[in-house]
Amino acid sequence: MLARTIGRTVVEMIQGDITTVKADAVVNAANSALAGGGGVDGAIHRAGGPDILAECRRLGGCATGDAKPTSAGRLPARWVIHTVGPVYNPLRAEESARLLGSAYRRSIEVADQLGARSVAFPAISCGVYGYPLADAADVVWETLAQTLPGHPNIEKVLLVQFNMHAYDAYEAAAPTE
Ligand code: APR
Repeated sequence: MLARTIGRTVVEMIQGDITTVKADAVVNAANSALAGGGGVDGAIHRAGGPDILAECRRLGGCATGDAKPTSAGRLPARWVIHTVGPVYNPLRAEESARLLGSAYRRSIEVADQLGARSVAFPAISCGVYGYPLADAADVVWETLAQTLPGHPNIEKVLLVQFNMHAYDAYEAAAPTE
């Protein structure tokens, strides 16, 4: 396990299934329709149950780079924060980076507004949406460094990687201790 302190927040990285992680808020890699899907989205809806999708249907979608909360259904969490990462576009890499950073920043802002003390993130956009792991990892660590100092009530952020490739890429990009 990797751990870094950023501001007043301990950022830990683990390998595992985010639906089993105990955190106040679990971030979902959703689509802009909030319609459910595969990957993390599918896992969260399968494990959390139908209440989550029923709430999603009342949210009117979510813009790329934004984040919206629902309850967590049967998950060991209080909230699911649905965020929409960008579909990676190599011809517009800066725009993709800006939108990915926004997805993490908005998720942290929403978690803080909810009163969450711990937030678990999957590797947003690094699956179906095709974001290269090393590039995404740089954006994520940079966004956490810029955002977390402004949210001292967030005591813990957990980066939950589903496989070793992602874990290794995010470890390589982590700030030096
Ligand atoms: N726990 C943690 N991480 C997971 C899990 C899980 N249970 N399942 C998949 N992952 C990882 C993937 O390996 C990838 O690294 O989450 C990362 C994000 O992959 P996706 O779930 O494909 O999300 P994303 O790339 O953001 O694409 C979102 O996929 O499922 C649809 O509805 C979703 O349209 C949206 C799109």
